[in-house]
Amino acid sequence: MRLPRIAELDESSSGWGFYLCARKERRTDRAGAEFLAVVLQDVSGQISAKVVHDVDAFQREFDAGDFVRVEGRANRPYQKLELLIEKIRRVDEAADRPEGFKEEDCIPCAPRPIEDMWQELRSRVERARNPWIRQLLTGILDRHGERLRIWPAALTVHHAYRGGLLEHVLKLAETGEALAAAYGADADLLLAGAVLHDLGKIDELSYDGVTSYSLHGNLLGHITIGVMLVREAASAIDGFPAGLRLRLEHMILSHHGERELGSPVEPMTAEAFILSSLDSLDATLHQVRRHVEDDRSEGDFTAYHPRLGRVLLKPSGR
Ligand SMILES: [Fe+2]
Ligand SMILES: [Fe+2]
Repeated sequence: MRLPRIAELDESSSGWGFYLCARKERRTDRAGAEFLAVVLQDVSGQISAKVVHDVDAFQREFDAGDFVRVEGRANRPYQKLELLIEKIRRVDEAADRPEGFKEEDCIPCAPRPIEDMWQELRSRVERARNPWIRQLLTGILDRHGERLRIWPAALTVHHAYRGGLLEHVLKLAETGEALAAAYGADADLLLAGAVLHDLGKIDELSYDGVTSYSLHGNLLGHITIGVMLVREAASAIDGFPAGLRLRLEHMILSHHGERELGSPVEPMTAEAFILSSLDSLDATLHQVRRHVEDDRSEGDFTAYHPRLGRVLLKPSGR
């Protein structure tokens, strides 16, 4: 029998399914027995899983980052549900496609098609009035487009899926335009801030369907990487105004809003204030939406959300 999606697994689930192996580690339990600790992923989420027999043989059958075919059953040794794996092997395209294997079922994606979002971003950039900003952003999109299209915005917290960074950038571009008009701020600077503020994530995170922190990410972080990428891109444009470059760099450096949140400087321009407020608002609202959508509890309120530090009221009619 085919296993249900990860989010729908319960204690009675057993059968087989296709997943992406997000992590794989050989460990020893308290009794001294070796086992493989594995994290499996599909569009609906991730689950911890274990191989406890024939460990040597199964270890050679697959690696982290592979699509795998798994047979097993759910188990709840403590509070958390896990999958006890009976058999696991790398997906064999020829044999498994006819059985229903699809990469898209294993890799979580942004709700809106990536090409749509990319076109919208390009047209926003083309509409920028400031020719320096237009040229800088066009260069950035051309040079880093391959990663910017598909990159996640984070490991876990918000927009943590394929196309998540682009979705987040577009939302800041849209809301930035509205707030620039409302407060008489510079709309082009805000567009540039939206596109550039998390640009460093393309080097901070490694992504091949599974997200992790890269060497650069751990040692430098996306704010520093972003400033370096933008300085390099602006320097390559003959005559790029030094004052404009400084303002853009300031927006990147201050976008986390406070020193405690990882920004080396705090916002000092109207555009930097707007950008950092919108950035945190978008991350928060994304978590709110997700939490309400994923909640399976009964009653008017969701389960407690540890990061938001509260329960949420479900929309009426539920
Ligand atoms: Fe950021
Ligand atoms: Fe951001």
